[in-house]
Order: sequence, then structure tokens, then C-alpha cells
Amino acid sequence: MTRPAAAHPLEAFAFADQAFAADVIDGLSRSPKSLSPRYFYDALGSDLFERITQLPEYYLTLAEASILKARAAEIAHGVPPGGVLLEFGSGSSRKTEFLLDALPQLAAYVAADVSETALDDARRRLATLYPSLDIRPIVADFSHPIECPPDLAERPRIGFFPGSTIGNLLPADVIRLLLVMGRSLGSNSRLIVGVDIKKDAPRLVAAYNDSAGVTAAFNLNLLTRINRELGGSFDLTAFQHRALYNAQEGRIEMHLVSLKDLSVKAVGRQFHFRAGESIHTENSYKYAVEEFQGLAISAGWIPRRVWLDEDRLFSLHELIAP
Ligand code: SAH
Ligand code: AVI
Repeated sequence: MTRPAAAHPLEAFAFADQAFAADVIDGLSRSPKSLSPRYFYDALGSDLFERITQLPEYYLTLAEASILKARAAEIAHGVPPGGVLLEFGSGSSRKTEFLLDALPQLAAYVAADVSETALDDARRRLATLYPSLDIRPIVADFSHPIECPPDLAERPRIGFFPGSTIGNLLPADVIRLLLVMGRSLGSNSRLIVGVDIKKDAPRLVAAYNDSAGVTAAFNLNLLTRINRELGGSFDLTAFQHRALYNAQEGRIEMHLVSLKDLSVKAVGRQFHFRAGESIHTENSYKYAVEEFQGLAISAGWIPRRVWLDEDRLFSLHELIAP
């Protein structure tokens, strides 16, 4: 039996892909074209991000890990017995180990991420390292309030949002997100946020345009994902990764630039590209300490301590819910 043709291009895709399909149609219909960075993280994208964290140019991970290593006990101090650690965009949860080592009093670790494979890998590794830890992975979009499992709902929470993932949002969206996180964490909570700091442009650009080409593969994988999941016809050799520092906005921008005039199919539609036209795939905002504290205050948080690494490349902010 043949299936009837879908009345609308979106109906041809499984329910789980509807948001992705709608966002791709919307993003590729805009001028300039754009796609949300949240779609980088399929199984391969999560693996490629892990490889990025090990690149010599990508200083962010090592810098943040050095802060966590030095400050884990200070951060852990005050977490009550039976508390819950709730991490947003937890990915591999590798840096979380510094906190888990310092938090034997935890009732549970709740890891929220859109990448199911990253959550699975992390759960398996952490279960071996911390056999008595109650690990609760949740596939969820952190832009909406995260519902903790009901049996943990009444427990005090500490939020953790490392990696400067907050830098992937526009500043106005940062305020909205911090408000939503406040709701997920409840009153009397604390939120620990990793934020990359503004620095010289060559260093920033090198971190997003590494010599081994891993970031280029990470960026281009978005087109592979559209080809596989949304019936796309992107020719990957016709697009080039570009990373630039937009000093006025204080952000790294990643783009996929079309090398020639093209027509591409995706989600049952045709999209046209001129030679040199780009899809803007990611912003990665960099903040001075006071700039980020200003955003946190606008979202109703009270900034308390800030820790920097020795080279002052990266910041870890402690925010208190009023
Ligand atoms: N926290 C880890 C991973 C950072 S990479 C670290 O510091 O190394 C960003 C992570 O956020 C990825 O695992 C990605 O899948 C997840 N992510 C991106 N957008 C998300 C969203 N809207 N909701 C939940 N997770 C998201
Ligand atoms: C997850 N996020 C903070 C990374 C960043 O640095 O913006 C994603 C990334 N993009 C390119 N390299 C890494």
C-alpha cells in the first residue's frame, strides 16, 4: 500500500522532527538565513563537540575545568544533605565530576539535555564512577522550565550551567532563560554559570576555526542532519565553515557560506543561495564579568561570587535566587 502524499511538507516528518522541520523552513526563508545551534547536537554533533573540547585552540573547557577543580569545595559548601544538582545542557557531564566529587551529600544528579546519546553516554560513565549516586537524565529543552522527577520535587536544588552555553543565546534571551531557570530551581536556590570572557580577536577566532577542522565538521554536520532527517539535498562540498569575531556585538559568529549559486531542497521546499550567501548557525557571546552580572540582575538574580582561571580567560558566576 502506498502512503498518500502529505498535504503539507511538515506532515511528511515524524512528530519528533516537527519543531526541527518548522525551524529549518523558517530559518532558511529568512534574510539573512539562520539556523538554531541547538540542532548541532545529534549523536555525531555531540561527539564532535567533545572533540572540540580537547582541541588546543578551544581554551574554554580547560579554563573552566581548572576553576571547578580549584573551587569545587567552596561551591559545594552550603549544599544541604539531600539536595539535588540540576545541570542544564549537561552534554558529557565531564566537568560535573569535579562537583560530584565534592558533593557526597547529594540526593540526586538531574542532567537535562536535548541530546539523548550524550545523556546515555554520561549516565553510563557516571554510574561506574559513582555507584551510589542517583542519576536522572532528562531529555529536555532548557528554554522551558525543567520538571524535576516528582520524588525530587520538594528537595532543595543547586543549578549548574557550564560551558558558556549561555553565550549561544542573544542577550535578551539570556534574561528570559535566567528567569525560566529561576522557576526551575525555586526560591533559595543557587545557580552556577560558566561564561566565556571577552579577549583578543585572534585567540577567539582560532578557538572556533581550529587547524584540525573539527569545528568546521561540527558546523557542516548541521547540513548532514538536515539531509538525513528532513530530506535535504545539501552538497557539503558547496558550503564552507566561517568563524568571525563581531566586536561590536561581542560575539563569535559561525556561518556556513555557499561557494556558488545553488538551489537546495529541504522539508519538501526549494531554497536558493547566491554565491557568498551564508547561513548564520551560531553566536557565541563573550562577556566581561560586570556585563554578565548586569544580565543576571535584570533576570532577578543576585550575583555573589565570581571565580576566574589563572589566565583570566573564563568566568564562573554564582547567582543567588532572592
Ligand atoms: N555542559 C557541557 C556541554 C556543552 S555543549 C560542557 O560544558 O562541556 C552544549 C550542550 O547543551 C550540548 O550537550 C547540547 O546538546 C545542549 N543543548 C543545546 N541547546 C539546548 C537546549 N535548548 N536545551 C537543552 N540542551 C541543549
Ligand atoms: C556549547 N557552546 C558554548 C560552544 C561555544 O563555544 O559556543 C559550541 C561551539 N561552537 C563551536 N565550537 C564550540
